[in-house]
Amino acid sequence: MKKIILLIIINLTGVLGFAQEPLTAKYDLMPWPKEIKENKGKFVIDSSLTISITSIKSERVDHAATQFLRRLTNRTGVFLNEGFPLENKKGDIQIQFDAVSKLDIKNNESYTLIVDPSAIKITAKTDVGASRALATLLQLIDNNTTEYFIPGVSITDEPRFVWRGLMIDVSRHFQPIAVLKRNLDAMASMKMNVFHWHLTDDQGIRIESKMYPKLTEQASDGLFYTHEQIKDIVAYADKLGIRVIPEIDVPGHASAFLTAYPELGSKDGYDYQIERFSGVFNPTFNPTIDATYTFLENLFAEITPLFPDEYFHIGGDENEGKHWDESKAIQKFKKKHKLNTNHDLQTYFNVKLEKILNEQGKKLMGWDEIMTPDMPTTAVIHSWRGENEGLAKGGTLIEAAKQGYQTVLSNGFYIDRMQSVVDHYTIEPIGDVKLTEAERERILGGEATMWSELVTPLTIDSRIWPRTAAIAERFWSPKEINNVENMRKRLEVVSFQLEELGLTHIKNRAVILRSMTNNQNITSLLNLSNLCEPLKIYARNLDGIEYKTYSPFNLFADACVADASDALKFNKVASEFVQGGDNKAVIGFFTTWSNDYKSFIQLEKNPKITPLEPLYKNLALVSGLLSEALQTKKISRENLKTIQNTMILLREPVADVELVIVGALNDLTAYCESNYLKK
Ligand code: ACM
Repeated sequence: MKKIILLIIINLTGVLGFAQEPLTAKYDLMPWPKEIKENKGKFVIDSSLTISITSIKSERVDHAATQFLRRLTNRTGVFLNEGFPLENKKGDIQIQFDAVSKLDIKNNESYTLIVDPSAIKITAKTDVGASRALATLLQLIDNNTTEYFIPGVSITDEPRFVWRGLMIDVSRHFQPIAVLKRNLDAMASMKMNVFHWHLTDDQGIRIESKMYPKLTEQASDGLFYTHEQIKDIVAYADKLGIRVIPEIDVPGHASAFLTAYPELGSKDGYDYQIERFSGVFNPTFNPTIDATYTFLENLFAEITPLFPDEYFHIGGDENEGKHWDESKAIQKFKKKHKLNTNHDLQTYFNVKLEKILNEQGKKLMGWDEIMTPDMPTTAVIHSWRGENEGLAKGGTLIEAAKQGYQTVLSNGFYIDRMQSVVDHYTIEPIGDVKLTEAERERILGGEATMWSELVTPLTIDSRIWPRTAAIAERFWSPKEINNVENMRKRLEVVSFQLEELGLTHIKNRAVILRSMTNNQNITSLLNLSNLCEPLKIYARNLDGIEYKTYSPFNLFADACVADASDALKFNKVASEFVQGGDNKAVIGFFTTWSNDYKSFIQLEKNPKITPLEPLYKNLALVSGLLSEALQTKKISRENLKTIQNTMILLREPVADVELVIVGALNDLTAYCESNYLKK
């Protein structure tokens, strides 16, 4: 009887999904699906594997199925007999869907995926849903010593939010088409569905205009996308089930626009120039002259046909209105139209833009500065300001939804701040806030934002990935999927799989280090880079004046990433040791670092690596002394003092990075003082 009850419980937990926590330990899926159950057996992958699509024609599914086969064959080394989906025949992997999607916020991306020993069945409402299932299937591939297989599972999946985006700023640093395409591939593999393309800013206009050719001639440094390239990206994204939202950032962030067309600026006689630094600048469109609206109407009319999506982002952020305050004519205009503040004037501008865009069939979206009392609720609010803490209670996301706006969250998902993945993953967009059904529906989802002041094509992937995969999970998966340790375990696997798509987030770190050392052995530098993280929250490039847009970005800090891997491991074993664990792993790290320092000093130095020498020397010194203390269980007062003085130096940033094991080293020092110092 007891056995029967136990069996019933096990069965129920499977059906109701209570058993999901253990399965997250077993499978490395990301984003984690809504429901997953295990079936008996496994589907073995061999050369006879075939795939078939028994539905209407969909370029998306044809593409996804063919890509699936390529990735599967590369992953497994199995030589498939059939390299393309079968026509008019049932395959082992059977894909069936009801409709070809029009990509919009109502699109259905749900799917079911059933893996049995004899067949794999994918069913979906739409072709995009079917493509999402194939992304999941690729993550399920497993192996033993003799074969690759897909474990028997049944998955029923759908996203929590309809808007799961990545914004890439191509103005501060231009990103070539190939960079965008590989990132779109990565987005699709993480089931993300919005690419927000920040096309203009103070540092350059990146979209061709035939109507206003001076934009590219005088405001782009020759770095821009032609209309053909834009269409190519939009088509590429569409095939992956990704919508493309362009952003033309106005009225502020307009240095580049006004370099080309100074007559549209707010300050007469101002010497407008493409901006080379980072920050918030004064050049702003003049919202009181008809020419501004004629210009934007014509520009939008030229651009909007390139972007089939309904949503169009006008930026609207960070206009401090200095040039408006300094213009007598603008002040006079404000008085005449009873616009008391610069916010009122910007709302006047936004409302006119909304009318223009509506007439062109578009819905206006803007950063949360556009949410002013007179802004119609037909606009879409992109929440970015405020601190992460208490976000759900006080953030503009909830406020916007309550006021009747559709809204998208980026506050908390600024990946350019170089914070830990945990800081982003643990943000719950809605939290416990009580919302009506209509309010909840207006919260569309969120976007990670890749502002590019400090990233180039060489480094952008390592700033986006793998952290954005965890953010993608936050927006796709049930909110109960929030275990940080387990996320880290799955993310590590997903991260290396992302390289299969051509991402460079892992390999380019070595490329930078090889360049720094003039192709000497980089092991010691790589190991140091795994203990260091770039300065966070804009402490690198303080006030935006350390780096210009054309400064070098192949420095040590550029080879370092958030969540430095060895630091995470060391911090864990150090913490386990001071809580009573054994000292082997800690000593192992110390030995490695002492040896690495010996290799490092053998390197022929140059101005790029010489500044790292004191950091490495001090790390080796502390490592040696702490290692001795741990092994002998003794420490002299003199050695303790040396460690403590050296720790003061190790706390200081060097070459725009910080050593992120300082806390653990301090804890170990305190432990040695308490336990090993002769009294
Ligand atoms: C923003 O970060 N200025 C939207």
